[in-house]
Amino acid sequence: MRAEKVLILNFGGQYTQLIARRIRECNVYCEILNCRTSADEIKEMKPTAIVLSGGPASVYVKDAPLCDKGIFELGVPVLGICYGAQLMAQLMGGKVSMAQVREYGRVDLTVDNTIPLFRGIDRVTTAWMSHTDSITILPEGFKVIGSTPNCPVAAMGNIDKKLYAVQFHPEVEHTVKGMDIIRNFLFIISGLKADWTMESLVEQTVKSIREEVGDREAICAISGGVDSTVAAVLVHRAIGDQLHCILVDNGLLRLNEAEDVERLLKEEFDMDIKKVDAQELFMSALKGVTEPEQKRKLIGNTFIKVFDREAKEFNKAEFLVQGTLYPDVIESGDEMASTIKSHHNVGGLPEDMHFKLIEPLRLLFKDEVRQVGKELGIPDEILKRQPFPGPGLAIRILGEVTEQKLDILRRADYIVTREIKKAGLYNELWQSFAILPDIHSVGVMGDERTYGETIVLRAVTSSDGMTADWARLPYDVLDRISRQIINEVYEVNRVVYDITSKPPATIEWE
Ligand code: XMP
Repeated sequence: MRAEKVLILNFGGQYTQLIARRIRECNVYCEILNCRTSADEIKEMKPTAIVLSGGPASVYVKDAPLCDKGIFELGVPVLGICYGAQLMAQLMGGKVSMAQVREYGRVDLTVDNTIPLFRGIDRVTTAWMSHTDSITILPEGFKVIGSTPNCPVAAMGNIDKKLYAVQFHPEVEHTVKGMDIIRNFLFIISGLKADWTMESLVEQTVKSIREEVGDREAICAISGGVDSTVAAVLVHRAIGDQLHCILVDNGLLRLNEAEDVERLLKEEFDMDIKKVDAQELFMSALKGVTEPEQKRKLIGNTFIKVFDREAKEFNKAEFLVQGTLYPDVIESGDEMASTIKSHHNVGGLPEDMHFKLIEPLRLLFKDEVRQVGKELGIPDEILKRQPFPGPGLAIRILGEVTEQKLDILRRADYIVTREIKKAGLYNELWQSFAILPDIHSVGVMGDERTYGETIVLRAVTSSDGMTADWARLPYDVLDRISRQIINEVYEVNRVVYDITSKPPATIEWE
């Protein structure tokens, strides 16, 4: 059990995850909970502070999400943000109404910097607003501590009870002193210590996995991606040889990828890893298949078949390690679950596989997983890898997937990565890779006419893969990539660059 934590009650606001990120950036542990969690349950969890998130509703409409009023009586400091601020006002006996003038964007906020929440902040500062309702009558015991020209109660507080509410969003960057306000709430008002570090997280996770697993065994499917690798190395630190890793080489990976991951885990970490060569099985499943969704399904099913067969070898294993991250946990509405839980049908695995799941990363965001990986000594080469889709190169070859096409694409893709890395652009891009569109065109090399393959170069910037912009790569980098592909991959006589954003295109071509 962690000693100190902040609980964030989620009212469905678009910035709830961002609030969690900001608190963790202050080296304070926090969790996001469903807003309807009762005050008794919250008390049991012994939070040092509580934050009420924003949300899309109006507090005065029927069915507006509410929280248990009892949380204001726990003696724990509470910070309400936007909807959370309005809810605090309403539940404590104040009034919220539709604002006469709505406020969206940057505003000048005037604060009372003699009170702890705004200590050290200029009297007039820039804040980010996004609201249609406002607090119009203060609850008893509260006073106005911040206002804007159109929002007389932009912040209120009951200083004795340590209850604070802000109409603006301290968690977004546009609120210039937002982090100072969050820090004041955490450290001055709530008395938290900044002691949640990756080192302590690793230590605690290792200890709890060791206790739960005891002398039993676990298996883990390794893909070579960041999440499964970090999860496996972390669990290995806890239970050593009781963990068995399975790396399915489906023949759709990038050049040397399976070998590199196998070598790293075996040699650097001394882990038990079995590389299963299933290339033929995947290729025969994909034979003659051209439809993208069918490709995905076949690859998924074949993976399950192979994993199921291999897992039987470890019939003593009771646990399955998965690299689930916090955003997936929040999305599935499963916030309360702990690191280890029982599960029957996992990620499409056959029903008769009864494993308990170990999900050591389930409370972490992606960048925190990278920090854990660093703490565990995993090299940047793996930790800073760009995302790679589960179906692999199969969805970057349009039409039927064949050994020959895979071979061409692999060599071209290797050159793209090499040149992007050389230009120092690899970590700035969300993804950069080659696609084989199965287009042949006429060219001329030396004195000869050619009729060769086309390679499409795709490079995008993005923060989460949901939307993406095509990368404005320097012309000289484009030129080098094009020339080197033509020089080194003799089947190719033309290289083109995809200049479409997502939407309307997707990042992958299938
Ligand atoms: P799209 O092509 O939909 O991709 O714009 C968005 C992001 O998701 C990755 N991607 C996948 N990842 N299994 C995965 O694990 C998949 O089937 C899959 N399809 C796309 C893609 O690489 C990009 O980062």
